[in-house]
Amino acid sequence: MMSAAAPLVRIEGLHKSYGGVVKVLQGLDIEMKAGDRVVVIGPSGGGKSTLLRVLMGLEQIDRGSVVFGGKPYISADGSGKTTIDPKVRRSIGMVFQHYTLFPHLDVIGNLVLAPMKVRGEGKADAAARAMGLLTRFGLAQKANAYPAQLSGGQKQRVAIARALMLDPKLMLFDEVTSALDPELVAEVEQVILQLAQQQMPMVIVTHDMWFARNIASRVIFCAGGVVVEDGPPEQVLGSPKEERTREFIERVFHIKH
Ligand SMILES: Nc1ncnc2c1ncn2[C@@H]1O[C@H](COP(=O)(O)OP(=O)(O)OP(=O)(O)O)[C@@H](O)[C@H]1O
Ligand SMILES: [Mg+2]
Repeated sequence: MMSAAAPLVRIEGLHKSYGGVVKVLQGLDIEMKAGDRVVVIGPSGGGKSTLLRVLMGLEQIDRGSVVFGGKPYISADGSGKTTIDPKVRRSIGMVFQHYTLFPHLDVIGNLVLAPMKVRGEGKADAAARAMGLLTRFGLAQKANAYPAQLSGGQKQRVAIARALMLDPKLMLFDEVTSALDPELVAEVEQVILQLAQQQMPMVIVTHDMWFARNIASRVIFCAGGVVVEDGPPEQVLGSPKEERTREFIERVFHIKH
């Protein structure tokens, strides 16, 4: 049983290294409520993508645990084996910085593939749901286009729609606009803001401070493999408590201006 107050995600003592040498996450503790939209910021190489990949069940971990919706999801006790519940993993969607659409399938084909394979959904049903999403995202007229025929912004919106086809309970976005031409950023951010209005829980890595301020219910500053600061956006972005956070924010703003 899951009480109303139970967190959606509870990350405890998460340690992750690559090859035992590059220690990336060094004891991360994060708790996320169902209504949270968490923006993760931090220095390059600080482990933001690694954290999202771990949450997506794509990485082995060294130690620690992730509990999702009250159920054990990922765990490792240091003996070298990571246990991941595949059923929980299927309830999480992720969109990456670089487009990951299947180039040989048209847009509809990209959207219906996983629901048909993973859930055994019928083609007509899946296609109808896909058209609904594409319409919502202003992409209905692109249903039969191939990825190579789309703009970067359109590709990312299709990637988001594709992830939504599996009815995720949590969405992870890793710098989904940073490879885009500036004029295409807003159309992708609008789609994510629309999901936020519908109360989709999400974890977002972004260097876009406007977007961070507008989407976040919480901002987490990660550096050196741990959470340095965690709070509401107006606090962490506006008047950070920690010197390291302040330095980072000033530097990022400076770069942007
Ligand atoms: N597959 C891998 N094998 C070995 N080391 C890796 C691998 N992936 C990432 N790393 C290392 O782990 C560290 C954290 O990388 P990660 O990509 O998580 O950082 P990040 O915070 O997302 O950085 P950025 O802001 O540049 O995207 C870096 O030192 C990186 O070189
Ligand atoms: Mg990254």
